[in-house]
Amino acid sequence: MSKPKFIDDREKLEKLAPVLKAPLKRQVFVCTGKSCKAVGSEEVKAAFARELEGRGIRQGKETKGRNPMGEVVLTECSSVGFCTIGPAVLVYPEGTWYAQVTPEDVPELVEKHIEKGEIVERLALLELPTSG
Ligand code: FES
Repeated sequence: MSKPKFIDDREKLEKLAPVLKAPLKRQVFVCTGKSCKAVGSEEVKAAFARELEGRGIRQGKETKGRNPMGEVVLTECSSVGFCTIGPAVLVYPEGTWYAQVTPEDVPELVEKHIEKGEIVERLALLELPTSG
């Protein structure tokens, strides 16, 4: 098997992965594992999509209603261990893990944490140490 070749040409990289051009500030993970799904994580993910796209800050293709230069990446993930207290939502680079998030909580999370960097204490159960 051949070794993957490291691409050091930034322009070439940005063509291959346009997300590299976006001024990213945060990444939001919504757990869509079995237990979180059973208590509504798909609705939470949809609420994040609506809220971020409505504010024009969700990074992604214009054809999907997103902004190629958006500052926030929304990603679904599998179980992170909050199975009995889901839906779990993780926000980086702060490393804040939120529990029992409902679609109704999403506008507040976006307004306070995503846009202003203020952690929503009532939902935050874990804050991982981050560097920088
Ligand atoms: S299924 Fe979401 S934390 Fe386990």
